Amino acid sequence: KLNSLLKKVLLRLLEKVNKAVRYIQDLLPEVPEVGIILGTGLAGLAEKIENPVNISYSDIPFFPKSTVQGHPGQMICGHLGGKRVIAMQGRIHYYEGYSMEEVTFPVRVMKLLNIDLLLLSNASGGVNPDFEIGDIMLLNDHINLQPENPLRGVNIDEWGPRFPDMSEAYDRSCISKMHAIAAKENVVLQEGVYASVPGPNFETPAEYGYIRRIGGDAVGMSTVPEVLVARHMGLKCMALSVITDLGVEGKIVEVTHEEVQEVAQKAEVILSRLVERFLSEAL
Ligand code: HPA
Repeated sequence: KLNSLLKKVLLRLLEKVNKAVRYIQDLLPEVPEVGIILGTGLAGLAEKIENPVNISYSDIPFFPKSTVQGHPGQMICGHLGGKRVIAMQGRIHYYEGYSMEEVTFPVRVMKLLNIDLLLLSNASGGVNPDFEIGDIMLLNDHINLQPENPLRGVNIDEWGPRFPDMSEAYDRSCISKMHAIAAKENVVLQEGVYASVPGPNFETPAEYGYIRRIGGDAVGMSTVPEVLVARHMGLKCMALSVITDLGVEGKIVEVTHEEVQEVAQKAEVILSRLVERFLSEAL
């Protein structure tokens, strides 16, 4: 009985995703090839998209709405670095009260719109003592500390396997190509492990220390749920993190969302350049 109930719930998810996909497809002149999720303070990258078609989240059937400052809440489709992209200007976070199904709904939609690569960005706290505020870190792995997994429940076999592999959550070839582009741009590009926590509070000093000791280089409140769903559906992922504050012993000071946004916005110029050049030269 429970099983058939769960199946109904999931069929409803399938229907919802398909409806959202069809709505967007009707508005787009072209099929997108790369999806982009823009993190806190990084929405400006989407302004570089040429021939943009803007679609407000509130117009897309079943699409969740972003409630956070610095997350405008629209899809922008067009060309960036000569590639056909669909960018989410504003992401959905678990701490806003959404379920993991809602948080990752846009990833399902973008995959079914036919993208094969997902680029994600976020703002995070650095716990690696070699990091500095304003650094950009390429994710090479993650640690999931979220309380719920978006893949929990009956598996939709058409979308992906019950037990998806995570041995290479972040595409190695993308990582090496991005390093090459950063070198050409003279940008110091850090690389490391991103720990994803539910938030919405920033960490205590003891928690930053814990995240460092379990192998994290940075900590933030997003990205991992979306990557789990993307990998489940066989999407390649690349993710970049702007280090907006430090959770390093002796360097921990009060953090505010305003500061996080400010640092991210400053780094956005560099991040945009890296992403644009990656799209034009690496794909
Ligand atoms: N912790 C968690 N999330 C964050 C941080 C942090 O220090 N900075 C930006 N997002």
